[in-house]
Amino acid sequence: MSVWAVLGAQWGDEGKGKVVDFLAGRAKLVIRYQGGDNAGHTVINEFGNFGMHLIPSGIFNPKAYSLIGTGTVVNPVSLLKEMEQVRDAKVPMDKLIISNRAHLVMPYHVALDKAEEKYRAAISGKEKIGTTLRGIGPAYADKIARWGIQCGEILDWNQFTRRVKINLERANRILNHVYDEPELDYDEMMAAFEPACRAIAPFIADSYPLIRKALDENWDMILEGQLGVMRDVDWGTYPFVTSSNPIAGGACAGAGIPPQRIDQVIGVVKAYSTSVGEGPMPTELTDETGKMLRDLGGEYGVTTGRARRCGWIDLVALKFAAQLSGFSSIAITKLDVLDSFKEIKLCVAYDVTNPDGTKYRSDSVPASYLLAKAEPVYITMPGWQSSTTDAKKMEDLPREAREYLRKIEETIGTKIKLVSVGARREQTIFI
Ligand code: GDP
Ligand code: IMO
Ligand code: MG
Repeated sequence: MSVWAVLGAQWGDEGKGKVVDFLAGRAKLVIRYQGGDNAGHTVINEFGNFGMHLIPSGIFNPKAYSLIGTGTVVNPVSLLKEMEQVRDAKVPMDKLIISNRAHLVMPYHVALDKAEEKYRAAISGKEKIGTTLRGIGPAYADKIARWGIQCGEILDWNQFTRRVKINLERANRILNHVYDEPELDYDEMMAAFEPACRAIAPFIADSYPLIRKALDENWDMILEGQLGVMRDVDWGTYPFVTSSNPIAGGACAGAGIPPQRIDQVIGVVKAYSTSVGEGPMPTELTDETGKMLRDLGGEYGVTTGRARRCGWIDLVALKFAAQLSGFSSIAITKLDVLDSFKEIKLCVAYDVTNPDGTKYRSDSVPASYLLAKAEPVYITMPGWQSSTTDAKKMEDLPREAREYLRKIEETIGTKIKLVSVGARREQTIFI
C-alpha cells in the first residue's frame, strides 16, 4: 500500500469516511491532516454507525495508529464527546495520538464564528459563508496571525492558562467592540473546557518521531483529508471555503510527510454533486431532480443536519481537482443513488460571463467570482434503472453504469480504483 492520501474531490461529503474505513484495514498509521470538527465522516462497520468529526476514520483498525495531525484544529470538548462515543462502541483507543503542534479551537473561536456569520448576514444574504459554526475559521485565523494556542501547551497548565487569559481578553475586545456581542467570562468558559483539556491531555504527544519511524520503516499509511478541493482556501469557491487546504498539497504540511513520499493520491468522488453552505455550485438543481437526489442519497449534513444542495456530476470541477491534487486514481461513491434515473446528465463545460459581459466556453474552473455566473453545459447518458447495491465486481454492474464510469474516467483522465454501491463497508468494489 505505502503512503496514500485520500481526499475529497468535490464540495465535501463525498464518502471519505467510508473509503478510509475500507482502506484502513491495510494501514499502520492513519493521519487526519487538516480541518476540525466541522467534518462529518460517516463510517458503518461491524462496530456500528459513526459520524466521525476529528478522529481519523482509521480508528476502527486496532492495529493502526490514528493521528490527529499538526494541520488540524482541535476542540477538546467535542473531541472528548467523540472519543466517548467511540469508546462506548468498544473500539480500542490506545493508538490515538493528538499532535502537540495541532491548534486548539477555543470557546471564543466558536463565539467569533457565530458573531462573524451574524454580522455577514446582517450586511446582506450574499455575504454569509454558511459555516458549520464550529469556530474553524477564527481558529485558523489566530494560527496564521500567530495568536493560536497549540495542543501541547495544555501540558503546562500554568503557562497555558496565562495564554488563555491573554487571548480571551483579545477575543472579548473583538466580540464586544467589533461585533457588539457579549463577552465570555473566563470561569464560565473554563467550567466545561478545563475537564475536556485534562481528559485529552494523555493523548497529546509529539507526532514527529512516530512519522519519522513510519517513513523510515516504510509503513503503510493513509493521509485523510477533510472537506473537498472546491472548498480549499486557495483553490476553492473563495470566500465560500473552509480555512485550510484539503488538496493533496495540504497533506504534506498538515501531516508532516514530504511530497515525494506520497505514493498515491486518491480522490473521493460522489457520483453526483452536493454542497452544504453558500457559494457557487454550477450544477445545483433546485427542481424535482435535485430533491430526488437529496432524498435518495440521504443528503443531510452529519455535523449540522442541514439539507445539502444537490445536482449532476460536474466533470469540469472534477478534472480541476484531479489536476490540482494529482490524483493517481479515484474512488466513486454512491453510484447506487443513481439507480432509478432514466437519464443522467454530466457537466462537461461552463459558459462563463466576463465582467465586461463577453462570454466564453471553459473546460476549466475559473476563479470564484466568475464561477458564480457560470452556466453548466451538459451531455446526457442513459440511466441503468436497476439495482447496483449487491454488485461485487465491475462486471456485476449494468452496462450503462459501466459506461457512465468510463465517461468519468475518460474526461478527467484518472482511473477508478474503487466503486461504492452502498454505505456499508462490504458494499465496495475494489479494483
Ligand atoms: P464524508 O464527509 O466525505 O466522509 O461523507 P459523509 O459521511 O458526510 O456523507 C456520505 C454519506 O453517504 C454518508 O451518509 C454515508 O453513509 C453514505 N454513503 C457512503 N458511500 C455510500 C454509497 O456508496 N452509497 C450510499 N447509498 N451511501 C453511501
Ligand atoms: P466533510 O469533511 C461539507 C462547509 C460549510 C461552509 C464552508 C466553511 O464531512 O466533507 P467551516 O465551518 O469549515 O468554516 O465552513 O465549508 N463545510 C463542509 N461541507 N462537509 C464538510 O466536511 C464541511 N466542513 C465545512 O458548510 O460552506
Ligand atoms: Mg461529511
